[in-house]
Amino acid sequence: MSRTADVLVVGGGLIGLVTAWRAAQRGLGTAVVDPAPGGGAARVAAGMLAAVSELHPGEETLLALNTASAQAYPAFVAELSAVTGADLGYRRCGTLAVALDADDRAQLRELHAVQTAAGLSSEWLSGRECRRLEPMLAPGVRGGLRVDDDHQIDPRRLAAALVTACAAAGVVFHRQRAGRLRTDGERATGVVLADGTALAAGRVVLAAGSLSGRLAGVPQEVLPPVRPVKGQVLRLTVPPAHAPFLSRTVRAVVRGGQVYLVPRENGELVLGATSEELGWDTSVTAGGVYELLRDAHELVPGITELPLVETLAGLRPGSPDNAPLLGPTALDGLLLATGHYRNGVLLAPITGDVLAHALVHGELPPAARPFSPLRFARLPQEQPV
Ligand code: GLY
Repeated sequence: MSRTADVLVVGGGLIGLVTAWRAAQRGLGTAVVDPAPGGGAARVAAGMLAAVSELHPGEETLLALNTASAQAYPAFVAELSAVTGADLGYRRCGTLAVALDADDRAQLRELHAVQTAAGLSSEWLSGRECRRLEPMLAPGVRGGLRVDDDHQIDPRRLAAALVTACAAAGVVFHRQRAGRLRTDGERATGVVLADGTALAAGRVVLAAGSLSGRLAGVPQEVLPPVRPVKGQVLRLTVPPAHAPFLSRTVRAVVRGGQVYLVPRENGELVLGATSEELGWDTSVTAGGVYELLRDAHELVPGITELPLVETLAGLRPGSPDNAPLLGPTALDGLLLATGHYRNGVLLAPITGDVLAHALVHGELPPAARPFSPLRFARLPQEQPV
């Protein structure tokens, strides 16, 4: 077995790819292990960059990382587009979060107060003002928040561009499943692929999304506590006769569930998403599709006229505090880039930079230290809960 790489990244989704790209740019010999690089949750995700509209009280530390990544997006997209020639579908279109009844309205008012206290830009609009911005909204909309800094990108195009950029930067792809982590008892030394091929590496980055907690050979005490959180997503098309349908992302909380509509420039309208704790199930269910269409129809009645072209389900990598796990673990040579939960697309640029810094300098940059996996450190015999 020969040493194949300075850095071996397990997982070729957005997070693994951006990590590999940035590592290779810093002169590290880098390889990615994934049967289908560019697949995974990026195939399903709507691509909202929603640092402001998805803010939750108590998640101010995560907010700092989210807003830093949102601010990094324009330069990141410009660089990746220049390297690959690809249009990534990055639209600085803003978001409108609306309320359909008095309870939703009270909840949105609270969110507005939290956003304002955090110094974020968000404007309260009456129902009439919301409909003036987006005439397809239901007449019953009771008010909303205009968030001009929450944009969108097409995650499929982003993933494809990252595969191209990685290849151009010299990243080697092993198009197989990782079977298990190799260790010498003291440190991570590489990965054994599903076909038994052993790859040696100086460092291993585990970036396998919701599967990150399942790689055999990872000692229990450093196994990331990530869990799958299922999201079902629909794709509709806006025929030219119906355009313009929506000019920006429109979202609401309906009966406690999030529903959002993300209009792309090419006429695609992404409608998401359920949030289900059902283990590894990725089936699209009649109930999931029904609920999404029912809630979206309350928001924008005209959607029932649009062709439904695709239904998909994916798994978000949930973590105990909804924040990612980034950087070195207690096992020498093993780093994590996982647990991004609802923010994987948003956090791609900063994750690449943070992991590259950690690989080059051996430690996290100061702004990323709250996201060290060591915050979940367990004693060797302790079982995950
Ligand atoms: N951030 C959107 C979602 O996870 O559904």
